[in-house]
Amino acid sequence: LDVVVLVSGGGTNLQAIIDAVESESITNTRIVGVISNNKNAYALTRAKQHGIHSECISPKDYASREEFNERFLEKVDEMNPDLVVLAGFLVVIPPQMIERYRNRMINIHPSLIPAFCGKGFYGLKVHEAALERGVKVVGATVHFVDEGTDTGPIILQRAVEVCPGDTPEMLQRRVMEQAEWKILPEAIDLIANDRVKVSDGRVVITE
Ligand code: GRF
Repeated sequence: LDVVVLVSGGGTNLQAIIDAVESESITNTRIVGVISNNKNAYALTRAKQHGIHSECISPKDYASREEFNERFLEKVDEMNPDLVVLAGFLVVIPPQMIERYRNRMINIHPSLIPAFCGKGFYGLKVHEAALERGVKVVGATVHFVDEGTDTGPIILQRAVEVCPGDTPEMLQRRVMEQAEWKILPEAIDLIANDRVKVSDGRVVITE
């Protein structure tokens, strides 16, 4: 399975994927490219350290969003991926790309969807809202990307305990360590081994 990973920040989810591919806990898979909208993203450094081709493209470099969308999709297509992975990617995916990569593009979200998701729920905001609501369990979700925000078919989820005295940063870290960095590689391995099917908008994991 040829995978392209889209990143915007520190790249800890990218690192989890790289480590899982290198240790072969993800099989039949190679990362053929990393694309970031942020030239300072440490994720790009991680890619370079592992000899993975990386590129940078930002909406800021284009006169219109339409121009960016076209060029961005061209860049992804040039890498010819079987799967596109959004790993902390903060740019809205162009509609034409949603169509082109339907059920071949996945996202990791740091909550148990449908809780704490949708517009504006990214990064620390997710964990601040969870603490504000006083939930006892949080977690992460890997889902296919569709037209909505965090609304596509759910592939895997993993729950994480909220501990007394948790700050948003402590909670974010625990969700990343105990959930995101586990279920994102696991979802890629399932897809690489053809064990993920979508029927009636819901995911079935086979054998
Ligand atoms: C994290 O908040 C993660 O929950 C979300 O994107 C952010 C950056 O993650 N998916 P990363 O370290 O860049 O992978």
